[in-house]
Amino acid sequence: MCGIVGYIGNREAYPVLMKGLHRLEYRGYDSAGVALINTNGQLNVYKAKGKVAELEAFVTDKDVSGSIGIAHTRWATHGEPNQVNAHPHYSESEQLAIIHNGIIENYAVLKEGLMKHGYNFRSTTDTEVLIQLIEYTKHTSQVDLPTAVQLALNQVVGAYAIAVLDRQNPNMIVAARKGSPLVVGVGEGEFFLASDATPIVEYTNKVIYVGDEEVVVLERGKEPSITTITNVKKTPEIQKLELTLNQLEKGGYPHFMLKEIFEQPQTLRTSMKGRVNVDANNIALSGFIDNRERFLNAKRIIITACGTSWHAGLIAMYAIEEFARIPVEVEYSSEFRYRKPVIHKDDVVIAISQSGETADTLAAIQLAKEAGAFIFSICNVVGASIPRISDSGCYTHVGPEIGVASTKAFTAQVTALTMLALCIGREKGTIAKEQYLRILKELDNIPEKISKIFHQNDRIADFAKIFTYAQNFIYLGRGYNHPVALEGALKLKEISYIHAEGYPAAEMKHGPIALISQEMPVVVIAPNCGTYEKIVSNIQEIKAREGKVIAIVTEGDTIVSNMSNFCITVPETEECLTPLLTVIPLQLLAYHIAVAKDRDVDQPRNLAKSVTVE
Ligand code: G6P
Repeated sequence: MCGIVGYIGNREAYPVLMKGLHRLEYRGYDSAGVALINTNGQLNVYKAKGKVAELEAFVTDKDVSGSIGIAHTRWATHGEPNQVNAHPHYSESEQLAIIHNGIIENYAVLKEGLMKHGYNFRSTTDTEVLIQLIEYTKHTSQVDLPTAVQLALNQVVGAYAIAVLDRQNPNMIVAARKGSPLVVGVGEGEFFLASDATPIVEYTNKVIYVGDEEVVVLERGKEPSITTITNVKKTPEIQKLELTLNQLEKGGYPHFMLKEIFEQPQTLRTSMKGRVNVDANNIALSGFIDNRERFLNAKRIIITACGTSWHAGLIAMYAIEEFARIPVEVEYSSEFRYRKPVIHKDDVVIAISQSGETADTLAAIQLAKEAGAFIFSICNVVGASIPRISDSGCYTHVGPEIGVASTKAFTAQVTALTMLALCIGREKGTIAKEQYLRILKELDNIPEKISKIFHQNDRIADFAKIFTYAQNFIYLGRGYNHPVALEGALKLKEISYIHAEGYPAAEMKHGPIALISQEMPVVVIAPNCGTYEKIVSNIQEIKAREGKVIAIVTEGDTIVSNMSNFCITVPETEECLTPLLTVIPLQLLAYHIAVAKDRDVDQPRNLAKSVTVE
């Protein structure tokens, strides 16, 4: 995690860097800092604990001039979040400064070696070790900064996106990456660099996605130059950025999360555009068409993901097994990568990741790739690391998701995976034509049906206030809606800090029922499908113990709505598509409870949007 940004050109760097840091704050926000070289050749470093706004307040009376600089917003890994541990870090001589996103795993060994050479450390971070190593290498090997960076990175085990300034050379930024993202923006006589393209978009639409183990040198008056850390020259590939400034603004909503919830009808239309074709009675996914045989011959599909994306994977397990009749295993990436899994050459491994950068998911697919499996990824951020190393995939195209709690990315992932399940099933002949056509038509209706749910937003906001007292919540669902229960509980935990558990409804009897009392709100997802009758019995069990039931039901429902204390309706749909509707009220419920509790909805404590550390 952490966000990095850099600028070199003719403008004042500070405003560009601060604006960039605000855009990257979703990546971490426990401390922030900036380094600038002014026209007198001074290298000024300012840092503050807390959000970027704290840094801005801290520098009000400081010299922030200069047309070259780097800045950082941090999510702490090594060392507590305080001012000393904030980036940028100086080298011993204070000639160099660095910002870093990632983890230097062998920092302890490197630090010990440097201490023997008389180096002192101000912070407890792994990053400071790297800048000291770069300085040590520069001096002892008598090389220029780019070479020192190359040589130092050859000794590093871990992940990094770094940018380095040298006060003796105010015309150059040296940056590099491995495992953590890094994008360079190429303007007229100026360069930008950042963890993603959001700080760059308003200045230029020409970008270079820096590759793993590549070092990029940005020098005034010259073309960007790229080499690998082993000094192999690379030709910079300039790409056109598909991102607009509007997508990065709140557009009148109080929070990005609410904006993103309300965007879902439109984002799902975009995700399905050119793929779901009702007139032609067809779903076309190019990633599937191009690799048809791999899917049709797959003996097994392994889905690997983290967080909300893992919940989308669970829903896909129901859909793929139902329609394509291929066994599916859904794995937490962090467990999969370390548990010596059995992976066959004819397995298809599907990675799901909004950011496309999650370290554990990236490592999981690297492992699967080495074992010869076919890697298909479902990602949102175009050009991110996961899609780049995958054999094929499908972008969700929902635009930037800025709220840390994922909403529109989740519904698009479920949609993409459902389309994939239908494509495989249709080709294999494991789904009846009528059912395929019914679901295809219904997919096309989903955006409109989501819009209908929004009419209940004010009512949800009203009754959300009642539940601010709760210390705990239980979420129950069955079948396709069991993962939705997990997702609803996760949303509430993430942004309101209320403890919440998601459970398969029938499992309640095996433990959680002991927790039910008058105090306990129980959210029950009970649309009119498969296990409806069974869930009615589960609700009776809750009522008998005086639990408060908040039910999500299909329009026209009378039984559950009469039994529940609060009820939200969703339009009727195909069972496999119910998650796309039932999750919407749960997103809104979590949002409004968090707002009523005055929480920082878009940047909840301790979380970050893109988890590029293990
Ligand atoms: C973090 C985010 C979650 C996200 C998870 C996986 O925990 O806060 O919202 O679901 O990472 O991220 P990915 O980008 O791989 O979907």
